[in-house]
Amino acid sequence: MADTQKHLLIVDDEGPLRTAIAERLADHGFSVEQAASGEDALQRLAEFAFDVLVTDLRLPGISGREVLDAALERYPDIIAIVITGYGTVKDAVDAIKQGAADFITKPFQFDALLHVLHSAAEQRRLKSENAYLRSQLEERYRIDGLVGRSRVMRDLFQLLETVASTSSTVLITGETGTGKELAARAIHHNSARRAGRFVALNCSAIPETLLEAELFGHARGAFTGAVGTRQGRLEQAHKGTLFLDEVGTMSPALQAKLLRVLQEREFERVGDSHTIKIDVRVIAATHSDLAKMVAEGTFREDLFYRLNVLPVQLPPLRDRREDIPLLVQHFLQRLASDTGRGAITVSQEALRRLMAHRWPGNVRQLENVVERALAFSQGRSQIDVQDLAPEIQNHSGMIEGTETWLPEDGIDFERYIEGIELSLIKRSLERTQGNKRQAARLLNLKRTTLIEKLKRLAPHQASD
Ligand SMILES: Nc1ncnc2c1ncn2[C@@H]1O[C@H](COP(=O)(O)OP(=O)(O)OP(=O)(O)O)[C@@H](O)[C@H]1O
Ligand SMILES: [Mg+2]
Repeated sequence: MADTQKHLLIVDDEGPLRTAIAERLADHGFSVEQAASGEDALQRLAEFAFDVLVTDLRLPGISGREVLDAALERYPDIIAIVITGYGTVKDAVDAIKQGAADFITKPFQFDALLHVLHSAAEQRRLKSENAYLRSQLEERYRIDGLVGRSRVMRDLFQLLETVASTSSTVLITGETGTGKELAARAIHHNSARRAGRFVALNCSAIPETLLEAELFGHARGAFTGAVGTRQGRLEQAHKGTLFLDEVGTMSPALQAKLLRVLQEREFERVGDSHTIKIDVRVIAATHSDLAKMVAEGTFREDLFYRLNVLPVQLPPLRDRREDIPLLVQHFLQRLASDTGRGAITVSQEALRRLMAHRWPGNVRQLENVVERALAFSQGRSQIDVQDLAPEIQNHSGMIEGTETWLPEDGIDFERYIEGIELSLIKRSLERTQGNKRQAARLLNLKRTTLIEKLKRLAPHQASD
């Protein structure tokens, strides 16, 4: 993505100063037009949609405030920088309340103006990116709480919808935290059974001896402690959906009984000979490889085929890193509304670290990291690297062999590499308090090489 040239209008009645600034801005790649008065500025704003407005507040005739007003009214996205006189901070504050992005006080160095322009542009980009992500969350990149915009996730949403329109048994597989339960709920909520109940039973969370009674219910006195008659989860899910989580941990005896339910749609409570007919859809989930367990003889082959009528696979998060910004936004939005905080953004650098991580705990782990980061950000409106959990902060970057990641629609290779160069140079300068010799040593570069690179990659920072 090459930066397109920014169109900038500079408004100042001091001719020589204005012309000098305009020329230097042009040197830095801006396409610049000049206006010598408020009237002139209004005329130009009416004719052309500038990206950036730089205006002196003090102008003869129509004031800078009025120019600012007209510009923002016409182009709400314009980046407006106001120039104020020395000792008129209040004017600057008013202008910012009015919608200006930033201000600069006369007299100023050209580099200071350039810096203000760059950071305003960056701020604007972040803001619109976040707004864009938010709008995506509202649209097609979700189904019942599952969000994702990667190709695999969009395909998955379609599959879930298709699956929901049938009444077949479903087997959901995926690593821990990939959203298996959310997917099961999405199927239920989009199916004809949505009026019925969604009943979940985690087979690995209940001792083997109790699992059977939990699933099928029991008659009074069926075993020690069975004081009354009790409905099992199967019956509770009648006309609805039964979600059997970690189905791979079921004992062989219970596997046989479950197979019968799936084949005959009937069962008996424990300690009772009365047969109960049931209308239930079963969705099973597992993080283990059932096919392999079948091969090893620890899972019944016939049950596997009964369960695996419609297989749904949830990909690990590291295989769809392009979903991370959207997921982060999703969790922030939810957490912010829970805690009553306003809109919160994430710095690009923090996002890069998040996207470079391997996420063994998948989306659940990401959710926890975001929650922690929000707590550490202590009311700031942007989450930054230092708010992230140490294991994510300390990641040594994206460039470590297999950790590079290529987005679906590709990247601009040169800019990507330059971004990495610049980020390393900035980090070493931070660490050495701006000492270029020491910074160069940290990077194993010649000092002159570092300075050259800095000039090329961040011209406005090279000189200070
Ligand atoms: N695509 C997603 N979009 C939004 N949230 C998600 C997504 N996937 C998972 N989550 C969230 O991550 C957490 C874990 O999801 P879920 O419980 O469905 O995973 P699981 O695969 O069942 O994990 P486990 O195998 O550990 O039981 C939940 O808080 C869920 O809301
Ligand atoms: Mg689960």
